[in-house]
Amino acid sequence: MNKKTHELIARLAVAKRPVKILFVCLGNICRSPAAEGIMQALVDEKGLSAHFVIDSAGTGNYHIGDLPDHRMRIHARRRGIELTHICRQVRESDFDNFDLVIAMDVSNERDLRRIAPTIEAEDKIVQMADFISMATKYDYIPDPYYEGAEGFELVLDLLQDACANLLRRLMA
Ligand code: 4NP
Repeated sequence: MNKKTHELIARLAVAKRPVKILFVCLGNICRSPAAEGIMQALVDEKGLSAHFVIDSAGTGNYHIGDLPDHRMRIHARRRGIELTHICRQVRESDFDNFDLVIAMDVSNERDLRRIAPTIEAEDKIVQMADFISMATKYDYIPDPYYEGAEGFELVLDLLQDACANLLRRLMA
């Protein structure tokens, strides 16, 4: 994790609650709604719902109004997580409404930096892979859209690992 991300998370860990987190990918039908569902389930499980606001959005506009991809919903359900997010696009006001804007890959990050209205807004953007602790060759969350079942399972493994670490850091 780079120093900037480390400092931001440390600052939020002691900040006034709730901490508001927005997960962002391209379509907002696979990776980011899965991250949202996983993080919300973790927070609920630990009785911490009052401490967090969790949402997701996409940089693209292809699937606005849709439920998450049916394959992602099936794979998540097998892990006990129901994905019910309705797809929406990232907007400039998200940078006012959230403390942490978490990109799934560098292309999401690049798009987010274009949308961010100020330098302070840009400072809220971090990479989800910064929170991965499991052994993996991935330093980003790979897009599973054109992949098979293994692609979805891999994304869920990476996201469950990263969400657990993110929550641990924010509660430290
Ligand atoms: P996501 O996956 O960014 O993880 O939601 C994608 C879903 C749809 C498309 C691309 C990526 N698409 O091009 O429609």
